[in-house]
Amino acid sequence: MPIKVFVAKDYDEMSKRAAKLIADSIKNKPNIILGLATGGTPVGCYKELIRMHKEEGLDFSKVVSFNLDEYVGLPSTHPQSYRYFMDENLFRHVNIKMENTHVPDGLSDNPEKTCKEFEEAIKRAGGIDLQLLGIGSNGHIAFNEPGSPFNSRTRVVSLSEQTIKDNARFFKSIDEVPRQAISMGIETIMEAREIVLLASGEGKADAVAKSLEGPITTEVPASVLQKHPNCTFILDEASASKLTRKAR
Ligand code: PGA
Repeated sequence: MPIKVFVAKDYDEMSKRAAKLIADSIKNKPNIILGLATGGTPVGCYKELIRMHKEEGLDFSKVVSFNLDEYVGLPSTHPQSYRYFMDENLFRHVNIKMENTHVPDGLSDNPEKTCKEFEEAIKRAGGIDLQLLGIGSNGHIAFNEPGSPFNSRTRVVSLSEQTIKDNARFFKSIDEVPRQAISMGIETIMEAREIVLLASGEGKADAVAKSLEGPITTEVPASVLQKHPNCTFILDEASASKLTRKAR
């Protein structure tokens, strides 16, 4: 199945479209297993989901979530940890049960075991129904940087120089950006029954075009999504600006 592409006019429309898709999926299956993403891109989508919860009664009480990744070395109280991000940007504003939310433990003293247990928890839950993804300017998905094997599972990974630079904007200085993360693998992500990738801004245009229209290669991790049976890219116009076939 080719990747379905929707080009929104701007970030706001991209966010609302993604939130509607997620909300419809929750309504269809209240005990849905969601795969969630962090970063600047999904913030607007989470804001809209919070609004839908508060104003329209969107119910998260049976939702279970698994996040893609977490920095190694940051406690959950660190404002840049992905646990903190999820709590602040979504979880504590909706009625999801905190015990149903899973973010890898970046402080684990046995990361290998943590990774294995994370995979097992996903399996026990029945597998991810809907996985939300962002994309790095280098084409990464989660922290699967260029060169990551397509058969990779949850593991400790090193961030690429590009990603460290891209993420420095969230930290006081580039030296504070952790160099390692625990990340779901590409195979873990590909097992989700449905995948929705969001991208916004010109900085993502190259990676988006290569992922959708280029060869499937480990050099552009998101290109593997061409092999997924049910994947949608929701883009804004800037991130879609380098596509040759204009989709809507
Ligand atoms: P961003 O990150 O949403 O902060 O641009 C996306 C990603 O690196 O996957």
